[in-house]
Amino acid sequence: MYNRSMRDESLTEITISYIKALFAGSSDGHDADHSLRVYRNAMRIAEGYPDADTDLIVLSSLLHDVDDHKLFHTENNSNARTFLKDNGISKDRIEEIVTIINSVSFSKNKGKTPETIEAKIVQDADRLDAMGAIGVARTFAYGGKKGRSLEDSVQHFYDKLLLLRDTLNTDEAREMAGKRHEFMVQFLEELGNETLSHI
Ligand code: NI
Repeated sequence: MYNRSMRDESLTEITISYIKALFAGSSDGHDADHSLRVYRNAMRIAEGYPDADTDLIVLSSLLHDVDDHKLFHTENNSNARTFLKDNGISKDRIEEIVTIINSVSFSKNKGKTPETIEAKIVQDADRLDAMGAIGVARTFAYGGKKGRSLEDSVQHFYDKLLLLRDTLNTDEAREMAGKRHEFMVQFLEELGNETLSHI
């Protein structure tokens, strides 16, 4: 058993091809494009942490939704485990990656702060993609798919998305989140103005 490294660029490419095939036809906000954005956010945050294990961040960000229960009926992260094993990643590394993936998910993590810097970075990267203009787009895409009313989708901002800024782990992500948070506040204000009912 050996550990392939991300310095082997092709593993990143293989992982991207894998998620594109896996999420083909999915467009509700949990798709390959979301995973790619989370990956890019994570790499940006990671620039502030030269000691963080970049290989772990690349694989766990790209694979963080491949066992999402809303899309896949897998047990024990079997999509991620199978993909990593098939690509020569060692058992120990697979456990590390799965631990990061599971600490990103609010439902699996029960809202606890992740322990490692790699997990903190990936969690922040995922949360950033639920904020800002992309957060607005994803909320209404998902709401539409679920048949939710405009009102219910708007409620999601107050229940969750406007609270995200204060849950971020890293200064880098907090900095990236500032503009996104403000945009959501402005969006809701403008939406309120435009939809205000006059008697
Ligand atoms: Ni995600």
